[in-house]
Amino acid sequence: MSETAQKQAAFFAGILPLRLPAPRAAVAFAPSNIALGKYWGKRDDTLNLPCNSSLSVSLGSMGTTTKVSPANAQKDEVIFNERALEAENPFASKILRFTSLFRQGQTIPLRIETENSIPTAAGLASSASGFAALVSALDAAFSLDLSKEQQSCLARIGSGSATRSFWQGFVRWDRGNLQDGTDSYAVPLHATLPEFRIAIIPVDTGPKSQSSRDGMNHTVSSSPLFSSWPDRAEADCKIIEQAIMERDFVMLGETAEANALAMHATMMAARPALCYLKHESWRALETLWSARKDGLQAYAPMDAGANVKLIFLQDQEADIKSLFPNATIIEPFRER
Ligand code: PMV
Repeated sequence: MSETAQKQAAFFAGILPLRLPAPRAAVAFAPSNIALGKYWGKRDDTLNLPCNSSLSVSLGSMGTTTKVSPANAQKDEVIFNERALEAENPFASKILRFTSLFRQGQTIPLRIETENSIPTAAGLASSASGFAALVSALDAAFSLDLSKEQQSCLARIGSGSATRSFWQGFVRWDRGNLQDGTDSYAVPLHATLPEFRIAIIPVDTGPKSQSSRDGMNHTVSSSPLFSSWPDRAEADCKIIEQAIMERDFVMLGETAEANALAMHATMMAARPALCYLKHESWRALETLWSARKDGLQAYAPMDAGANVKLIFLQDQEADIKSLFPNATIIEPFRER
């Protein structure tokens, strides 16, 4: 076993019981999320420990539903959007690698059926909701009753942003300080903002030029601007949390947009430069900035990808729709 695999196996063994009981069929849903204060840079690549805390809003009914059940044959099966995948498929092998860590070497063949309710055209990454739904379904299938915090810790090994996909609404992932990673998990914020809206403006719905994992490692190791990021990002998260608690949407939006652009600045200064934004992303940003001069209150917490996301309150919705007719509008606090 490689050193990485050993360290990850030890992390799972610290949270899970030594012997898993026989599984039963279980289904779980997890929402996708968009970071308002970004996670960018790892202090430990094996345990996915971040350099800074982050804060997100979940996307309501847009997310992943995963069913885990005992396999029919004596081997694992992965079904994505009703299509059986070969074990070598990159998506299937990511899921199976994580599931093997969870099973801790025990032979328990599973059938894993997973479906995304995120329209592909929205161009939203699904690894956050995917790993959160997988962990929740595995927890239920093995009747483990792990706490959400423990599940958040486990999902972190699959994808950092998955830590935040166990709750609806605003969620904070505390970076933690321990080297063993047991204090680095997310918690929900007890605040709602029913008028909060998100617009997703699709620019490029294909796979990104470089994964976030590779992009952040490249930035940490080569960008002269990265050293200023962790403290700034930590401070931004505190401001965003305060703005949420005080219902100060302008402070929230301005800080989220500045935080996202600072993240992009760190990667553009990397050597060689990394830029996820495309011509059309910049065009949408220019439209936004010019409309803002005329009073529009909307902000762009740009992710590590080309698609543009806007946050605003309900009273701006008509203006957003006329400026960006192809936007998908999400109401994250809508009762379900
Ligand atoms: O969860 P990952 O490893 O795909 O990284 C996500 C990184 C960002 O989306 C850019 C920021 C975030 O906090 O979600």
